Amino acid sequence: MLEILIKSDSLDVTNKIGKLIGEEAFEGEVITLSGDLGAGKTTLTKEIGKTLGIKEDINSPTFNILKCYFHKNGLDLYHIDAYRLEDVPRENKNIGLEEVIEGEGLAVIEWPVYINEFLNFEESLNITITINKDTNVRLFKLETYNDKKFTNLFNKLHNEFDK
Ligand SMILES: Nc1ncnc2c1ncn2[C@@H]1O[C@H](COP(=O)(O)OP(=O)(O)OP(=O)(O)O)[C@@H](O)[C@H]1O
Ligand SMILES: [Mg+2]
Repeated sequence: MLEILIKSDSLDVTNKIGKLIGEEAFEGEVITLSGDLGAGKTTLTKEIGKTLGIKEDINSPTFNILKCYFHKNGLDLYHIDAYRLEDVPRENKNIGLEEVIEGEGLAVIEWPVYINEFLNFEESLNITITINKDTNVRLFKLETYNDKKFTNLFNKLHNEFDK
């Protein structure tokens, strides 16, 4: 298992994390992003997309649940925000998410807890953001059981953030 904790007290730190993730992204990768409203999940996704070379502005897909950014010269980005699936019965949830998640691009999923049944947390990079409301400092916990696919990323993260 690979794990790192990173304290983010500014957008710069969050963007650096996003940049490293974007640089090391691979076909079929899945990233889950957990954390409160306003924690920084979409903010991180924006920087990942930018690093992939996606020119469109990536915004919160809350009202769409899924947004695909197709990309000729790089990985496609599938941005899922499952927040609005909270109260949706299981049999109505399969709106093609599974096919997208298993696609060849990079799937980034906010509020994965609401689509647990479509996810394999053993394979994905799982990120949890906790925010200290008094200090506005965010703690990013990145973890994965998929050591093989994420070794390079974690090496880079440790080099950058373990001081
Ligand atoms: N260190 C930081 N890292 C990330 N975001 C930060 C940081 N400091 C301030 N912010 C601000 O916090 C807000 C995070 O909002 P964002 O939309 O990314 O949250 P979210 O986790 O996607 O929320 P939601 O669950 O509603 O989708 C942004 O306005 C961002 O500018
Ligand atoms: Mg969001």
